[in-house]
Parts: sequence; C-alpha cells; structure tokens
Amino acid sequence: MTQDEMKKAVAQAALDYVVAGSIVGVGTGSTANMFIDALASMKDDILGTVASSNVSAERLASHGIKVLNFNDVSENMVVYVDGADEFDAGKCLVKGGGGALTREKIVAAGFDKFVCIVDESKKVDVLGAFPLPIEVIPMSRNLITRAMKEMGGNPVWREGFVTDNGNDILDVHGLSITDPKALEATLNHMPGVVTNGLFAMCGADIVLMATPEGVEIL
Ligand code: A5P
Repeated sequence: MTQDEMKKAVAQAALDYVVAGSIVGVGTGSTANMFIDALASMKDDILGTVASSNVSAERLASHGIKVLNFNDVSENMVVYVDGADEFDAGKCLVKGGGGALTREKIVAAGFDKFVCIVDESKKVDVLGAFPLPIEVIPMSRNLITRAMKEMGGNPVWREGFVTDNGNDILDVHGLSITDPKALEATLNHMPGVVTNGLFAMCGADIVLMATPEGVEIL
C-alpha cells in the first residue's frame, strides 16, 4: 500500500464518525483533502462544515459541500477531522506543516471531538523530529527567533509564506519535546506568538492510524 492509499483509507474511515444532521469541522493538509473528497458522498446528510483554512474551504465548496462561518454556528458541532505532522502515545500532536495551525486550533476547540487521521509514519516516541511551527505576528519574528534559540531550538523563518491571518511562521528544528503541555503553555505566553503547533492541552480524542494492514483506532 502506498502512503497515498493509506491516507485515502484513513480519510474514508473517518466518515464513520460523521453524525448525520451535524456540522463537521474540517482540517487542512493532504490527508484532510482526502477526507473532504470522501465527505462529498455525505454532503446531503450534514448541516454543513467549518473549514480551518481558505484552501480547505475552497476544496469543500468545489464539491458543493456547504461551508459555514465559524462565528455563525454554536450547536451540533460534533466532530473535527484533521491530520497531523506527528503524534505520540498520549495523542498529543504537532501540527502546522501546512501553516493552518491557528485556525485549526480555533476550529478544533469548537467541536466535541477531534478525530485525527494519520498514516503510521506520523507516530513518534517523542515529539519534535518534525520542526515545530509557530505562527508569529511579523514584527515579533526576531524576538521569538532569539527566544527559541535560547530554548535550544533552531528556528527557521518560512520565508515567502503568509498565513491566512497575515502572519509569519517560524519552524523550530532540533527540539525534543518531552513535556508537550508545558511547552505549549510556555510558547502561548510569549508576546508576539499567535499560536504554536503543539496540540497537547487539547490533543486528539481519537487517532485513526492507517497501516498497510488496515486502519487502527487509537
Ligand atoms: C496543516 O497546517 C497541518 O496541520 C496538517 O494538518 C498537517 O500538516 C498534516 O498534513 P498532511 O496530512 O498533509 O500530512
């Protein structure tokens, strides 16, 4: 089975968690894209979706799936489905490889359950092998770069990339994140940091992990 076939299988498996008559939260990335494509088969059974990025909203709309404004909805928000760049045994995640981390964290917080869809390559013992994305207000980029160096990381500005919110991304290499909740909280308190890509304080509720043998529910 190729990685793409595994992504497709896990995206299809996530449909089991979509509740008829509800609003579905939709993430961003290549696996989330496959979920969007699969969700098209259920578009008449759901009330609509909330997207975590402009690119996902466009893909949803291209399938004729209704996209709702997050500020206009407050009920029937059952499941948020999204991929991850890494996950650990505690279902803590690193996200933001696609740069949509802030809206992903906001939208995920509005739903009862976060169903994370990944292939087995995303499983790690300790988070941090994938560079940790941090969305920063542009004028704070050097300030946060210095702070991350002091914390032992090697931050790299994702030059030329602007988030949907008009901000910059720093990808922090070289971290070994043994206490993801503590690091998430520390980063959240730095002036200029909008969001960091750790989803540890509110991680995934369910991880669906594709393997060549099938989809495992964790
Ligand atoms: C987008 O900002 C990310 O958080 C993605 O959800 C994550 O990078 C997983 O993407 P893939 O499914 O493309 O690996």
